[in-house]
Amino acid sequence: MERRILRMGDPRLLQRAEPVPASAFGSDWLGHLVRDLWDTLYAVGGAGLAAPQIGEPWRVVVFESAENPRYPWAEPVPATVLVNPRWTPDREAGWAGAWEGCLSLPGLRGWVERPARVRYEAHDVAGRVIAGVAEGFHARVLQHECDHLDGVLYPMRMRDLSRFGFLEELTAAGVIPGKRAR
Ligand code: NI
Repeated sequence: MERRILRMGDPRLLQRAEPVPASAFGSDWLGHLVRDLWDTLYAVGGAGLAAPQIGEPWRVVVFESAENPRYPWAEPVPATVLVNPRWTPDREAGWAGAWEGCLSLPGLRGWVERPARVRYEAHDVAGRVIAGVAEGFHARVLQHECDHLDGVLYPMRMRDLSRFGFLEELTAAGVIPGKRAR
């Protein structure tokens, strides 16, 4: 079921989400939560969504990017559900900057620098351990969604607020290349 996405200013977006208890793995409750996240994400055409963005204070994120018009330059990322994710930066890979958006800040984009490559570990909905290395857009969307679980929105990661604005204006000015998107 498509749910309403909370927007910046709603204090629920600033709260730390709770770990999903092991007893909930494989449950209908968790299955429905993940289904709602996908339904909501697909309805708006975003790349990723975290449970707190639909008002559910649990450590669950979903993301996928295949030819996403919001991010025309981004390489594809397979559909992924991460429950109770954790990540650590690969320090040798350094940092990378890119324009980010967020469904909780519709119409806006900001330049955010993040670790370029990360190792992550999480559970899937059945409780199986998932682990891997993410880089490029994959690493970015993973960190962005995990930030939501700690009440962090991308403007809180920005170092230069002069690189923050409405996508429409940034695109019209040629600061951001590519197609117009919401
Ligand atoms: Ni977001």
